[in-house]
Amino acid sequence: MKKVSVEKAFDKFKPESCVFVISIDKQSKPSGMIAGWNMKCSIRPPLFAVSLSKKCYTRRLIEQSKEFVIAVPNKKLEKSLLLFGSTHGNKVDKFTKSEIKTTKAKFVKSPLIKDATLNFECELFRKIASGDHIIFVGKILSTYVNEDQKILLNMKNDGNKRIFKEF
Ligand SMILES: Cc1cc2nc3c(=O)[nH]c(=O)nc-3n(C[C@H](O)[C@H](O)[C@H](O)COP(=O)(O)O)c2cc1C
Repeated sequence: MKKVSVEKAFDKFKPESCVFVISIDKQSKPSGMIAGWNMKCSIRPPLFAVSLSKKCYTRRLIEQSKEFVIAVPNKKLEKSLLLFGSTHGNKVDKFTKSEIKTTKAKFVKSPLIKDATLNFECELFRKIASGDHIIFVGKILSTYVNEDQKILLNMKNDGNKRIFKEF
């Protein structure tokens, strides 16, 4: 066993599920990002949390709209996942650029991702300061599944390239 940096240990800590986190601006225009730092955290009430960097645009959208959608990807969404996870919504219209298919949610204004394996509609339940990140805990208002679809996992980072596999 050897001593390594936290960055290196976190990087090794995979496979990691990653989710789309989608919210809206003041004009109800959607944008989003990818979060590997995510977890289910309660059944009653149903809660799901993501840890978002203070620097990202989606963080500002959630603080202002108090809502978000979590969409769990499969292989079909890999290209969009890389776009959503590497560009900033204040500079790029990710939904137009990726041509990702959306559908209307029932309780929130943020759209659902039509082809995602799972979609969770969430209202902001708690915001927790967490160093250089902020943890957003969402109360799940509605949940959807595409039964025949699998889940995409981030297996490892090979240099700058991330390797995904479906399970
Ligand atoms: C697989 C993957 C996992 C990621 N996980 C996180 C995460 O958990 N938290 C975070 O703040 N950023 C994470 N990112 C980076 C953001 O998705 C990225 O910075 C994004 O461009 C932010 O977009 P925005 O500025 O439009 O919100 C991840 C990226 C990828 C590709």
